[in-house]
Amino acid sequence: MCGIVGYIGTKQAYPILIKGLKRLEYRGYDSAGVALISNNRHLNVYKAKGKVSDLEGFAAEKDISGTVGIAHTRWATHGEPSRANAHPHYSSSENLALIHNGIIENYATLKEKLQSKGYQFKSSTDTEVLVQLIDYIMVTNKLDLLSAVQLALQEVIGAYAIAVLEKNNPDQIVAARKSSPLVVGIGEDEFFLASDATPIVEYTDKVVYLDDEEIAIICRGEELKVVDFRNVEMNPEIREVKLNLGQLEKGGFPHFMLKEIFEQPDCIYDCMRGRINVDADNVVLSAVIDYKEKLLGARRFIIVACGTSWHAALIGKHLIESFCRIPVEVEYASEFRYRDPVIDEQDVVIAISQSGETADTLAAIELARSRGAFIYGICNSVGSSIPRATHTGSYIHVGPEIGVASTKAFTGQVTVLAMLALTLAKEKQSLPREEFLEIVKELSHIPEKMKKVLELNHRIAGLSQIFTYAHNFIYLGRGYSYPVALEGALKLKEISYIHAEGYPAAEMKHGPIALIDAEMPVVVIATHNGLYEKVLSNIQEIKARQGRVIALVTEGDNVISGIADYCIELPATLECLDPLITTVPLQMLAYHIAVCKGKDVDQPRNLAKSVTVE
Ligand code: M6R
Repeated sequence: MCGIVGYIGTKQAYPILIKGLKRLEYRGYDSAGVALISNNRHLNVYKAKGKVSDLEGFAAEKDISGTVGIAHTRWATHGEPSRANAHPHYSSSENLALIHNGIIENYATLKEKLQSKGYQFKSSTDTEVLVQLIDYIMVTNKLDLLSAVQLALQEVIGAYAIAVLEKNNPDQIVAARKSSPLVVGIGEDEFFLASDATPIVEYTDKVVYLDDEEIAIICRGEELKVVDFRNVEMNPEIREVKLNLGQLEKGGFPHFMLKEIFEQPDCIYDCMRGRINVDADNVVLSAVIDYKEKLLGARRFIIVACGTSWHAALIGKHLIESFCRIPVEVEYASEFRYRDPVIDEQDVVIAISQSGETADTLAAIELARSRGAFIYGICNSVGSSIPRATHTGSYIHVGPEIGVASTKAFTGQVTVLAMLALTLAKEKQSLPREEFLEIVKELSHIPEKMKKVLELNHRIAGLSQIFTYAHNFIYLGRGYSYPVALEGALKLKEISYIHAEGYPAAEMKHGPIALIDAEMPVVVIATHNGLYEKVLSNIQEIKARQGRVIALVTEGDNVISGIADYCIELPATLECLDPLITTVPLQMLAYHIAVCKGKDVDQPRNLAKSVTVE
C-alpha cells in the first residue's frame, strides 16, 4: 500500500527520494509524487499517475533542486488513480505539502467544516482534507507546524502515517503515525523517513520505529525529537537494522518472485538455524520455552491471519492439533475483529503476518489483548508493528519478500509452525519419541528436497504454456494438502488474473464437479500419504468428466501417471511436512503461467504487499 519516503540533509534530496520510492514499489501503487523545497525556497510538488518512472519523466524538465523533500507512492482508496489524487497534497495556501498512508475515516465531516470556512479542494482524497485542516489550525491559531499537527491529529479518526513539509521552514519535516508504519533513519548530518527500512538501509543502519501516536520532528543539524500528540517528549529507541542490499535486488532473476521461490531452500535452512539440532534430536523455539506454562496451559489456540498467512495458519492448526492435542481455531483476522468473539485469558492467540503491518491482523491482536488473551506473533519483517504488539513470538527469518505474491514467507511460516508444534509436543510429551525424532530429522532434510523440486522449473515452465488458454482452474487437496490447494489457487489468481478456486478434494462432489469439462484444468495434490487412495478416486471422477488433470505425485508413482494428463513428480516426505514440498511447484506453475500471459508478476494490478488499511 502507500509508500512514504523523506529526506533532509546535505545531499540533493530528489535522487534519494526517487530511489526510495523504487525500493517501495513492491508495496503496490498506482501513482507517485514528490515535494521538494528548492534551493530558491519554492515548495515544488510533482505528481504522475502510473509508475515512479512516469513521475521521473514528468519531473525531468522541472526544478528538482533541494536538500529536503518528501515522496509517496499511492494505492488508491478515496478517489481513482490520477494526478490530482496522487500525493503530496498542497494546502490551499501552498505553504504545506503532505503525504499520507492510511485512511482518515471522518474526512467527510472535516471536509464539510473546512468548506464552510472557505477551503476548496482539488482532489477526492481524504489526505487533502488533513493538510487543509493542519493549515486551517496553523493560520487561525497562529501556531507552528508541530502544534497544528498535534491539534489536527486529535480531531482525526483513522489510521495514518504522515509527513509534512512547510515552505516557510525548509529545515524541518514533521512526521506522525497511528496504526500505519513509519521509520526514521539516522545518518551523518541527515535523516531519512520511510514506510519500512528498505529505502533507508543503503545510507544508514540506525533507525527509530515510531510508535502509535508519536510525532517525529526531524530538523536539519539537530537531534531527532519525538513527542506524543500532547507534546510529552518520548525517548526513541535507536535500533540497528541488518538488511543486506543484495536481498533487495533481483540478483540475476527476471523477477523478485522467481528469485524468492529459488531462495526457499536457503530460507528454510536459515529459519531452522539454531532452532533444530538433529544430532541432539531437539527443536527449540526460545519463545515457546520462555512462555511454556502460558502456552501449555491454554484452553485453546486461535490463529488469526489474512491471505497466504491464513493458509499457513490452516496447516498450523493441523500440526498443533495432531502433535500436541491442543484445540486450534483459525480465523480471518478481518472477521474475528468485528464479530465479538468469545475469548479470554485462557486463550492463546497466534497472529501470523509476513509484513507485520496488516491492519486487520493488528486490530485482531488488539482485541484479543484487551480481553486478556496471550498473543504470540509469527512474522517476517523485523521491527514491524505486529512483533511489537504481541507478548512474544518467532521471526521466520526468510529475508525481505519483495514480490507481492508471497512465496518464501509461506514456507517460512509453515516451518515455524512445525517447530512450534514440535517444541510444544516435546514439552507436553504428546508425541511418541520415535515419531518426534523422525519428524525433526525429516524437517532438517526439507531444504535439500526443495532443491530437487526447483530442478523441475523448466518442465513446469513448459507445462505452463499449455494452460494460458484457461479462464478457470480448480485446485484440490485433502488433509495437509487442502491449504496448499488454496494457496496454489491464490497464487494463480493474484499474478495471472485467472480465476482459480481451491477445494478439499472430497467437496468436489458437492457442487464444483458441475464445472468440470474438457476445458477445465484441475490441479490435484496426490502425493503418497494417508488419503492417497481417496484422492485417486477423486482424480478418476474428474477424468470421467474429461477434466484435464495436472497431478502432483510422489516420485515413482506409476498409478496416477497412467490416469492424469500431466504429472509432476516430487520427492517423498512425511505427510505433515508435505506442504513444504508441494507448495513450491504450484508457485512455479502460477509464476510461469503469468509470465506466459505477459503479466506484471512482481506488482500485479490492484494488489498491495502490506495491507495497512482494513
Ligand atoms: O503481510 P501479511 O502476511 O499479513 O499479508 C497477508 C496477505 O495480505 C498476504 O498474504 C496476501 O494474501 C499475499 N499477497 C498473498 O500472496
